[in-house]
Amino acid sequence: METMAARPIPAHVPPDMIGNFSLFSSPGLEPTPNGDPQAASAVVHDGPRIFYSPVNTRDGKGTWVITRAQDQRRVLQDPETFSSHRSIFASALGESWPMIPLELDPPEHGKFRSLLNPLLSPKRVMALETAVRERASVLIDRIAASGTSCDVMTDFAFPFAVNIFLRFLGLSDDRLDEFVGWANDLLHGDNVKRPAAARTIVAFIDELSADRRRQPVDDFMSFLVQSRIDDRPLTDMEIRGTGVLLFIAGLDTVAAAIGFDLNYLARHQADQQWLRDDPKRIVLAAEELLRAYPTVQMIRVATRDVDFEGAPIRKGDYVSCATMIANRDPLEFADPARIDLAREDNRHTAFAYGPHRCLGSHLARREIVVGLEEWLKRIPTFRIKSGTAPVTYGGHVFGIENLILDWSQEDAA
Ligand code: HEM
Repeated sequence: METMAARPIPAHVPPDMIGNFSLFSSPGLEPTPNGDPQAASAVVHDGPRIFYSPVNTRDGKGTWVITRAQDQRRVLQDPETFSSHRSIFASALGESWPMIPLELDPPEHGKFRSLLNPLLSPKRVMALETAVRERASVLIDRIAASGTSCDVMTDFAFPFAVNIFLRFLGLSDDRLDEFVGWANDLLHGDNVKRPAAARTIVAFIDELSADRRRQPVDDFMSFLVQSRIDDRPLTDMEIRGTGVLLFIAGLDTVAAAIGFDLNYLARHQADQQWLRDDPKRIVLAAEELLRAYPTVQMIRVATRDVDFEGAPIRKGDYVSCATMIANRDPLEFADPARIDLAREDNRHTAFAYGPHRCLGSHLARREIVVGLEEWLKRIPTFRIKSGTAPVTYGGHVFGIENLILDWSQEDAA
């Protein structure tokens, strides 16, 4: 884990608005065995609507933290004041191009969204469903045949998410392990591994787009290199920015969601049985698990000085809208700490809100639901393997490592 050097707190932040909280390092949010980072982040609702956390990004920068779901929606719906323009990925390389459409603001953002929306529409996802289900079955059959225990993250969640992404890109599985390694280094590596992984991913995307330019086939990259915006082809930087985003957006998030869901079910046998009794319940349950175990912290940058609920936000300040905080806001959800797999009217923000609402949400939902359906169909009552402890961590994207489940008779007894 890389260490975060705290920066000085800006002079305009009133001392009484500084909160002792960080999504990276507060108790339960640093890498913790058997932790529950979402529960550990839901400790801010008794406090003010907004406060300043001095160390709340990977590079040790402070952010304002918005604690109410309603206020987060105001921020996310006001890109003129709260911009997405940050170049997080490129900055690891000392460069400054945006990931597209994530780091563009309207009106540019809308042009790319209109181009990309049809690729991940509910209809397109439906067409992928058979492949998604087949992939889940093959992986889980292999796990079931090889014993009564496995590491869900390395044996199922990551290979599953990466395979679906590769299929979307039109690539074969040959380099799957390599891709999982890149994604892991990028998201969780240290100061050496992260830039190295970023360079490798950029080189891969650049090479793939050059290939598809020379010889287009029926896949995402070919679509991108042939697309036009404002009556012109996309620039190399735009193709790179879009390709890189699609590469990283769906890998860790889907794998983490499946991991957190199975971690929950392993510890709550009655809920596990309730889903087995009627697998149609999984669709609704997956929404509650997305509410309770969301994984993404969104950051926006103030484009001007603005007073927000008493906070003197200044141009350039970072503003955090953490889905894990919004999704456990008691003003928004009755009894938010209780996980009720039958919860209705679930207006969670796991997939964000406003113009940047997740482009891949239909696909992600299908992957999660199908993953859980196939798992419960093939694996008998399971629990965390005794003597093991999955390590969970907070950060910009919450995650879980080494989720070792066991379904042997002895452990299940
Ligand atoms: C459980 C899985 C997922 C979660 C929790 C998730 C969550 C999110 C969130 C919170 C955002 C907004 C980020 C921001 O505004 O700063 C986002 C944006 C995005 N996601 Fe996802 N995502 C998931 C899966 C996927 C998948 C599978 C794909 C692609 C196949 C994808 C593609 C994207 C893209 C392209 C954006 C940028 C949208 C824009 O800026 O207009 N995501 N996602």
